Amino acid sequence: MSRPRPWIEAFAPATVSNLGPGFDCLGLALRGPGDRVRARLGEQPGVTIVKVEGDGGKLPRAADKNTAGVAVAELLRRHAPDAGVELEVYKGLPLGSGLGSSGASACAALVAADAALGLGLQPAQLVDLAREGERVACGAAHPDNVAPAILGGVVLIPQLDPLRLIALPSPADLWLAVYTPGCSVSTAEARAVLPAQVPLAATVQQASRLGLLVHALHCGDLALLGEAIVDELVEPCRARLIPGYLDAKAACCEAGALACSISGSGPTTFALAGSRGRAEAMLAILEECFTLAGVPGNGLVDQVGPGARVVSTLLH
Ligand code: HSE
Repeated sequence: MSRPRPWIEAFAPATVSNLGPGFDCLGLALRGPGDRVRARLGEQPGVTIVKVEGDGGKLPRAADKNTAGVAVAELLRRHAPDAGVELEVYKGLPLGSGLGSSGASACAALVAADAALGLGLQPAQLVDLAREGERVACGAAHPDNVAPAILGGVVLIPQLDPLRLIALPSPADLWLAVYTPGCSVSTAEARAVLPAQVPLAATVQQASRLGLLVHALHCGDLALLGEAIVDELVEPCRARLIPGYLDAKAACCEAGALACSISGSGPTTFALAGSRGRAEAMLAILEECFTLAGVPGNGLVDQVGPGARVVSTLLH
């Protein structure tokens, strides 16, 4: 009789990366939205994606082109070369939204596969594997979505090789309004508009704001945090890819948002607030501005949340 091969289901959260001055090196995990992936031992070596749901048929089913498949193939190559894994991917996050959708699938797949194989890999090992999914998704193995998707909370990545991850504190009264306009921006496209070189003075300003941001998180000072979330290097290049973004940002700032910026490569836009009520007010403003700009979408208010985890084991 063949041995049972239970499906292990894992969840990985949406993430807001860059957070203003932390391009490619800072991100946070949201509490609510995310992707789920089921993994079980395969009968053949290698990775097979048996199902993808919730993507409107847009994601590649071939394991070597899908972020979840690529990340788990790399896990097998490094840690279990003779094993096989089957995956089912359930997308909860919109594609090309700036919410770390590709990274969430890779992270959920890795956590599920790690559990199915009984490997017990460390979070930093999982983040390093998940970066391979990002490489296939956009051509750059940026860690700022997958690090918070695995660790949860707010994560700084001060070094890539070898990978270093610093979990930062997040104030309990920090709330986010997160709005995804009804247009999509591919990360590759949003990276292609960035300059290869930037002026020294702007780089100094960006570095000082990132320092201020880390200090603000340690002090739990929301006003200081808002002051730090300004990005004069990347945001100006990307703002034109998002209809209505500059008006939405101006309206949120005018109405007292602690900060407003692009989530990752966009078009999702986030505004920070110090209470649920204030975040709801910001969400209403974002909704109104993006609707006026002809790109109505969806949004929510949320807080910083935990990282990827196994949520169930199913014997079907
Ligand atoms: N740091 C990456 C970028 C995040 O801004 O291109 C992509 O979601």
